[in-house]
Amino acid sequence: MPTQPATHPAGNSTVLLATTYTALSVAAAAAAASSPSLWSLFMGLLAVLVAWGAYWAAERYWLRPRRLDRALRAQGLTGTEYRFPAGDLVENARLNEEARSKPMKPCHDVVPRVLPHVLHTVKEHGTLIVVKDRWESKLASSDAPYELDIWPEFQNLTGDVISRTAFGSSFLEGRRIFQLQGEQAEPRPLIRRNNRRMNEINGEIEGILRGMVEKRERAIESGEASGNDLLGLLLQSNMDSGKGSLRLSTEDVIEECKLFYFAGMETTSVLLTWTLVVLGMHPEWQDRAREEVLAVFGKDDKPNFDGLSRLKTASVTMILYEVLRLYPPAVTLNRRTFKDMQIGGITYPAGVILELPIIVVHHNPDVWGKDVHEFKPQRFAEGISKATKDDQPAFFPFGRGPRICIGQNFALLEAKMALSMILQRFEFQLSPSYTHAPYTVITLHPQHGAPIIVKKI
Ligand code: HEM
Repeated sequence: MPTQPATHPAGNSTVLLATTYTALSVAAAAAAASSPSLWSLFMGLLAVLVAWGAYWAAERYWLRPRRLDRALRAQGLTGTEYRFPAGDLVENARLNEEARSKPMKPCHDVVPRVLPHVLHTVKEHGTLIVVKDRWESKLASSDAPYELDIWPEFQNLTGDVISRTAFGSSFLEGRRIFQLQGEQAEPRPLIRRNNRRMNEINGEIEGILRGMVEKRERAIESGEASGNDLLGLLLQSNMDSGKGSLRLSTEDVIEECKLFYFAGMETTSVLLTWTLVVLGMHPEWQDRAREEVLAVFGKDDKPNFDGLSRLKTASVTMILYEVLRLYPPAVTLNRRTFKDMQIGGITYPAGVILELPIIVVHHNPDVWGKDVHEFKPQRFAEGISKATKDDQPAFFPFGRGPRICIGQNFALLEAKMALSMILQRFEFQLSPSYTHAPYTVITLHPQHGAPIIVKKI
């Protein structure tokens, strides 16, 4: 999962350079008053610094991008020309802002709104317990339909689940981390990015996590059980591995915790939100899924692991796959080459960022057929490999290869359980106030929330 919103290096370094220059000028003026030889020393130092800064900026914003551009074009790759100082970023931001300024029709052809710039480039250049209880208490006084925004509801639910299972903490304890990570992810125009605030947020998150990790380490060292949540298992196995190179440092453990908090909460809440939105648009699939859930668990039994495994070939699973295809929570995967790499006969020099737009592949009619933008869970009836034309491997909402999502089974189990419990007890439809407006804030969010009308059955 991409975890950190990218900060804009240009803004950052400009500010740094200016500050250094001012500080040096003041120091130089003071020095000039006292001693001529110190004065020339300062001037020399200043000249070296200015020359170094100019070279650094030229290399970073002009020479290196141009070098990489030439190396790729020489091998037949096409694309937009590099534009000083930030390549496509400005155009990308402009197209995103334009797309986000208006909602879309309630249909599933969402790529032009979610990734307008990537789509343009590709075209131009080539190929539940908590929720259930809360909803029931809201509906307890009457059987009248009730409107609620499921987006924050599912954020609370999945935040609570990952806090308990991974960190043995409650949602309340994890809440500050989620709030801060949410602020980190907020979209801001490049020029308004506040790097100092970003550093403060990072510092606060790391402070909370360091406290949690150190408290647990002390408990384990004094002989208390490590607990069978993810943090306990991680720390116990780390301590068992002795002092060798396999041992993670506290910083490593903190980084892992950040990733799990973010990946565990954000992605699954997005999946559940889009699933209810889509089932609100397609009541026939909602009914079908409910029938199957009721056949397996009845109206009152809590969904259990065995029953959920029996739903593997049923509509619930096909529905979740089809939602992950049309609305993949992680819309793109990014990689940066750290050395010259050969991929598909092309040599990518070190420093190239490769972006794999999952959502564009998931919406490609050449792969999925003419009905690509339709919600058709039955395309997964014979499993994932048979869902595409000529069995092309083109479904990867959880990534692929060595960095494939470590939490995919956990996420699907959680989503099936939540969905089953909702379908057992409620029917729902989209509220007339719902506006279809998917957009990315690292993952694929509903820009104006997801109000639905729920009714007890
Ligand atoms: C619908 C839910 C989820 C989706 C769509 C999803 C998607 C992804 C994707 C696409 C990646 C690969 C990122 C890359 O290659 O750059 C990934 C990695 C990861 N995910 Fe998930 N994820 C989901 C749920 C979860 C959950 C619930 C957890 C934790 C319990 C989790 C933990 C992780 C971790 C730790 C990684 C990094 C793995 C590594 O780098 O080795 N994910 N996820």
